[in-house]
Amino acid sequence: MTFYDTLLAWYEGNKRSLPWRGETDPYKIWVSEIILQQTRVQQGWNYYLRFIEAFPDVQALAQADEQQVLRLWQGLGYYSRARNMHNAALQIMSEHNGKFPNNYESIKKLKGIGDYTAAAIGSIAFGLPYPAVDGNVLRIISRIFGICDDISLPTTKKKITSTCVRNMHPKNPGTFNQACMDFGSIVCTPKNPQCAECPFNKTCYALNHQLVEVLPAKSKKIEKKKQSIK
Ligand code: ADE
Repeated sequence: MTFYDTLLAWYEGNKRSLPWRGETDPYKIWVSEIILQQTRVQQGWNYYLRFIEAFPDVQALAQADEQQVLRLWQGLGYYSRARNMHNAALQIMSEHNGKFPNNYESIKKLKGIGDYTAAAIGSIAFGLPYPAVDGNVLRIISRIFGICDDISLPTTKKKITSTCVRNMHPKNPGTFNQACMDFGSIVCTPKNPQCAECPFNKTCYALNHQLVEVLPAKSKKIEKKKQSIK
């Protein structure tokens, strides 16, 4: 079995039922991904439903005034996310005739959208083959494939991204990316990962080298530096 066969088989049996699951409308996927950037799934759930109800599409969001948008965001924090979304909706109206762009480069040019979010939207809505590399993916790939370099280095992120690209599902990148999100929050968690239940436990590099606690690797120096800034 390939990495993606094993992962997708696990996903089929264990995926979470979430309000945006099965969604193919890029607008709704965008809203869910922006909310989930700095917010946990449980907290974001109702905000997502209320946001979609108030602004069901790009046009509705673009026509709203900023105060209305911010009111719906109240309590979620990181309000620049909401302002950027509102601006991006106006950008989609003026630059794309109100139609959500369907290629990676154009998606990434929208306000508030970086590599991760562009890959998530592009893969889930349009089947574009980009890995959505977040903390989950850095952890899963570094542990299973044994990438021991410091994950705060850009070169390590590149290495993990290319490992992910080589191992992602060729036909179903959207499902693959969502499977990584669920696998990383249910099985391959930062603390107390469920290695006994893990479908990769025979081959996982970290587990077989007693490195589960160590990977993804962070250099002590960098951790110390961060702490002293706090
Ligand atoms: N975290 C970020 N995006 C997510 C999604 N689409 N599903 C579950 N968790 C996520």
